Amino acid sequence: MATSDIGLDKTLAGLGVSRAAQVTARFAEVRADFDGHFTTVRDESDWKMFRDRWLGRKSGVLTLITDNWLKPAPPDLKRVVGQELNTLRAHVEAKIEERRTAVEAGAESASLARERVDLSLPGVIRPIGSHHLIPQVFQEVEDIFVSIGFSVVEGPEIETPYYNFEALNIPEFHPVRDDMDTFYLGLPKDAPEPLLLRTHTSPMQIRIMEKCQPPVRVIVPGKVYRRDNPDATHSYVFHQVEGLAVDTDITFCDFTGTIEYFVKQFFGPGVKTRLRPSYFPFTEPSVECDVSCIFCGGIGTAAGGGTCSKCKGAGWIELFGAGMVDPAVYGFVNYDAKKVSGFAFGMGIDRLAMLKYGLDDIQVFFQNDVRFLRQFP
Ligand code: DAH
Repeated sequence: MATSDIGLDKTLAGLGVSRAAQVTARFAEVRADFDGHFTTVRDESDWKMFRDRWLGRKSGVLTLITDNWLKPAPPDLKRVVGQELNTLRAHVEAKIEERRTAVEAGAESASLARERVDLSLPGVIRPIGSHHLIPQVFQEVEDIFVSIGFSVVEGPEIETPYYNFEALNIPEFHPVRDDMDTFYLGLPKDAPEPLLLRTHTSPMQIRIMEKCQPPVRVIVPGKVYRRDNPDATHSYVFHQVEGLAVDTDITFCDFTGTIEYFVKQFFGPGVKTRLRPSYFPFTEPSVECDVSCIFCGGIGTAAGGGTCSKCKGAGWIELFGAGMVDPAVYGFVNYDAKKVSGFAFGMGIDRLAMLKYGLDDIQVFFQNDVRFLRQFP
């Protein structure tokens, strides 16, 4: 109903109201108007308009009643108008407040309904990475040696010829250098010395002994480089773990015991170890460590008959090089060769991984084909 329809723009006298009963009837009409509209208030914007129409300071219905009905009312009606107005105000305010709570709750539950997360929907599965097989095998090897008192150290992949060769008793023009042809860094002409990518982890033997006095018991995992053409067993980058134990009373027995312990831990208790004489410039005596063939169990015959293709019928597989540290090496690090002794070994991690996990191509480590990687989560 418009303001004029309930007579809010006029005074009571102007409306012909002169008795208390007429006042009460007018207020009843206003209240009916309020109650009628009240039920149509649904959302927040309805509610705001409704509130302003009734409670607005300047031209809200209650203000108009105060200004047009109450203030100019004759003294004999003032009391009843005041009472009626108070009752109406209490009713209007209470109802509007009540509606506010309802409208807000409605808005809230509507937005909750809109934003509701359906927990029963299947989620987006993000793939979680895992370690590549090579670091996994590094870890296996490290765990075994750490359990018997070795520490893990790492060294630079860029080396000087001194550490990579000379101090390991490999002088210039030594034929061993041919097997270890590597990558030299392109340096300015006035560079003090050439630099190369290390061909093995053995240079760390020298760096460790330069820094520490015996007892020394370390293993050195890391990448090494050679100018090899890639094929099933060669790659220009591969991985090694160097081992070095030096003290005043280390014997060949300590050496063989350590190697055997490692082999049994790594491949299993049934695998046997065999040492064959070999040659490395930095060990004397030097050995090649073989293990009984883990594919045919050392018998040289494949499961279905015929020769085992892995050990070619030999029953043994070559694993890594090792030996007692050559006294000449101690000379390079100022150790007294008469007082100290020790052993060293250098394992190819790629080879260990291929044997243990039955892989026949080293290239799979570098191709990063997820179908391969997923097999070693
Ligand atoms: N550095 C040798 C290589 O890469 C492996 C090796 C052999 C390391 C005998 C040793 C060792 O420490 O004693 O071929």
